[in-house]
This record gives sequence, structure tokens and C-alpha cells, in this order.
Amino acid sequence: MDPPQHAVAKADEALLAELGYKQEFKRAFTPLEVFGIAFSIIGLLPSIASVLFYAVPNGGPASMVWGWAVASLFILSIGMSMAELGSAAPTSGGLYFWTHSLSSPRCRNLLAWIVGYSNTIGTIASVASIDWGCAVQVMAAVSIGSGQTFTATSAQTFGVYVAIVLSHAVICCLGTAVLARLQTVYVVLNVCLCFAVIVGLPAATPKANMNTASYALGNFTNLNGWPDGYAFILSFLAPSWTIGSFDSSVHISEESSNAATAVPWAIVSAIGIAGILGWAINVSLAFCMGTDINSLLNSPVGQPMAQIFFNSFGQNGTLALWSFVVLVQYMMGSSMVLASSRQTFAFARDGALPFSSYLYRMNSFTKTPVNTVWFVAVISIVLGMLSFAGPQAINAVFSLSVTALYIAYAIPTIARFVFTNNFKPGPFSLGIFSLPVAIISVSYMFIINIVFFFPTTPQTDVANMNYTVVVLGGILFLSILWYYCPVYGGVHWFTGPVSNLEKVSENGSIQESAEKKAHGSIREVAVGAW
Ligand SMILES: *[C@@H]1O[C@H](CO)[C@@H](O)[C@H](O)[C@H]1NC(C)=O
Repeated sequence: MDPPQHAVAKADEALLAELGYKQEFKRAFTPLEVFGIAFSIIGLLPSIASVLFYAVPNGGPASMVWGWAVASLFILSIGMSMAELGSAAPTSGGLYFWTHSLSSPRCRNLLAWIVGYSNTIGTIASVASIDWGCAVQVMAAVSIGSGQTFTATSAQTFGVYVAIVLSHAVICCLGTAVLARLQTVYVVLNVCLCFAVIVGLPAATPKANMNTASYALGNFTNLNGWPDGYAFILSFLAPSWTIGSFDSSVHISEESSNAATAVPWAIVSAIGIAGILGWAINVSLAFCMGTDINSLLNSPVGQPMAQIFFNSFGQNGTLALWSFVVLVQYMMGSSMVLASSRQTFAFARDGALPFSSYLYRMNSFTKTPVNTVWFVAVISIVLGMLSFAGPQAINAVFSLSVTALYIAYAIPTIARFVFTNNFKPGPFSLGIFSLPVAIISVSYMFIINIVFFFPTTPQTDVANMNYTVVVLGGILFLSILWYYCPVYGGVHWFTGPVSNLEKVSENGSIQESAEKKAHGSIREVAVGAW
């Protein structure tokens, strides 16, 4: 290690010690790789493919283009508020750690508990929804390969889904260095795919299928039956799901070098780039998708984007391009399992999950938290079983990942301003714009959460009901019940993030010396190194 890198590593370790934790992970991620994690989890093109079924019936081209544009500005405000917090306290517990340190002592334990649970459920639901999207894409490829004679059943898609989740668990046990190196490959492939669609799709689309500008940018086709304005807001699920889980960068704070600067910039630039490229992709799709929206939604391929590709590129071209879509989606799933297992690990470190002492265990051979990786995999498979409840039920897994994460994102953002605390901004700070940006971001998250607790169509029955509210409400209810449980409940022992430095040294000598080092010049070192 050369001297400047060494200084950065020391500063990272000192800042972590100041926050109360000892260095347990290897700092294997460079700033570009931290960005890579956030960007590869956004996984732009494959993600847009996964949730296109949501924007298309709720407004068609206008919602794809303008819904994306409006929502991504709101999402950027969420990211900026989070980046400020991440810069001030880069620890892998992230949201939940911030909530605890920024809230009033009277309610900080309960709020941290709720945030920790929402964040854990949200990241696991992200794993489930990404891998489900991947399974659907694999089945779309089979359908296209068979000349559209094959249509997957729920059981077949679920089988592929389970195989994908299990393979991700194996990959995430192998060690962080391998995964870190792979991030750069993800980013490059991701961007190539985006340009293939932005440039290649319009070039390949037959004249008959090309739409006029007034159709692509102005036609509003509302098929699900909600009033138009409400349908437009429903289409926000697509960008909100796609540009989501950017707290993943925060969860690897303890594995990244120069975290106080690298983490916030990774969040903001990943959202910014995804917003712009994603908009361009949606515009390209809106121009090239033809006007028969019903046939896209009801095609035997089962995947509207695959059907658009098929109409433009033909069978072989689509299979070639689609295999990259599946590959990038698959990579995105492995990054998400990684981030989710780290969040679970951090929460178990503080004893809040059932079986925490079993989950908070670092495998000495791989130096990764193997037990939490398998915990995430098993819960994801259970969530995937919702697919058997009906064709709409799996939507709940998609909206669950958005709503649960928004609860976890909103609480620390609010806590920072409503409680008296000594929040010290890190190197990334919005200055006087902090409060206005936070108000915009929290309002957006509030509205989205209300919207996603309603069914996707006004005709509610068992198949169309919204399971988001059942699953999220159920888990949060149980977690609060457990918190207040007599004798065993968290209210009796949960004190938020537990410093593991004290565990090392009974007399606190490590803590003290680390603090002395930290107060010297940590901020300067962090800024200078960037
Ligand atoms: C949108 O396009 C469809 C199909 O061409 C057409 O039937 C509908 O009237 C259009 N709607 C608007 C608002 O232009």
C-alpha cells in the first residue's frame, strides 16, 4: 500500500471508530466501485424492462416519458438528502444508525427499530423483485426462442426464480474482492446496453412501427381504470423502483475507501446518470413501440420490452440483445444480495433481528457474513411464493421494495430536522438547500407510499388486491409487537446501534485512542484525498 492510500485507510478507520465501530470488513471498494454498486443495482435497462408492465397500462407513452422525468427529479432530492447523511456518518447500518443518533432520546430506540426493520424488509424485497424480474426475462427468452409458442406458467417461473436466488447466495459468499472487481464490468455492460436501445432500437424499427412525436410524447392511454391523474402517479412506480435501493452504497461504507466523500457522490451521480439515461431509453421505447398497447401487454412473451424488441429486431437480434439484458439483471441481483446481507448483518450486530447472535457471524474463511446471505436468500424465496396468489400479487413485491425503503429513507431525513441534535455535515453538504430538498423528498415519499397501498385496478378481488399493505403492514406490526413484548421485547434491552469497540476493550482504551486520532484531521484527509 502506498502512503496516501494508507492515510485514507487510517482516516476511514478513525471515522468509523468515532461512530463507535471497529473495522471488521476489508476496505475493498474504491470510489468508482462504490458508484458501481449503486449504479449496477439501479441496473437501468433491465430494470426498466422489469417494470415497463407498470407504466404501459397507466398512461402509455406519456407516462413512460413524462412520468419518468417528473419522478426522477423527486428521486434525486431523496438521494441528495441521503447523501448528506451518508457523508456525515458513513456506517453500514446507515439509515438506522442515523435515525438513532439524530432522534430525541424518548423515541430514538423505537424509531431506529422501525427503520431497521423497514430497511431490512425493503432490501430483501429488492432482491426478490430483481430476481423475479430476471426469471421473467429468462422465460421471455425461452418464449421468443420457441417462436412465441411457449408461455411460462407461474410454477415454471418460480422454479427459475429459486435457482437464480440460490446461485446469488453462493456468489455472495465467495468474498468481497471478487465482487468489487466485477462492479466495473457491470457499469460498462450497463451503459452499452442503454446505448444499444437509445441508438440501435430506432435504427432497427420498421417504418410502420415508428410512432409520431405527438403520439410518443403526448398520447395518454389509461387501461386500468383509475382516473387519469392518479394513473399518472401510479406510473411513478416504474422510475421509483428502477432508481431505488441507492442506500446500497451506504451499506458498504465500511468496505469502501474514503467513504465520507465516495458514498454521497456515488449516490447522487448514480441517480443523476440513471435519470438521464433512463429518460432517453423511455423516449426511444415510446417512439418504437407501435400504437397497439394491448398486444404488448398480452403477448405470449409475457414481457412488454421483449415484445417491443421482437417487433423491431426480429427473433435472432432480440435473443442476442436480450441475453445481455438477462446477464445485467442477473448481476444486479448479486449486488443486491450483497447489499441486503450487509444491512441484515449490521442490524443483527445490534441484536434487533430474531436469531441475531446466529446471523451476526463473520465466516473466517471467506471473510463474508455467510449466515445473513442465506437468511436473505430464504426470505426472498418465501416472498416469491406470492406469485402463486395471482398475476397481480407479485406486484406487491415490487412495490414493497419501494414503500419499505421509503419509510426507512424518510424517518432519518425527518429526524435530522425535527429533533434537537448536533448534526455535523460531512464533506458533502447542500448548505441552505438542505431543508427545502428534504421537504420535497419526504413529501414525495409520503405520497408514493399512500398510492402504493391501494390496489393496481379499481376492481379489487383476491387476485387484484394489493398485498403490499398486507406484507409490509404485517411485518411492521409484528416487529412493533415484538418491540413491546413483555420481558423479551426490544423495549427492555434494545438501545440502538451498539458500539462493538467496547467489546474489544473493557477499559475503553481503544475507543479513546481512536477518538484522539479521529479528532485530529479526519475531515481534511477525506477532502484532500478526493
Ligand atoms: C392514443 O392512441 C390511441 C391509439 O392510437 C388512440 O385510440 C387514442 O385516442 C389516443 N389518445 C389520445 C389522448 O390521444
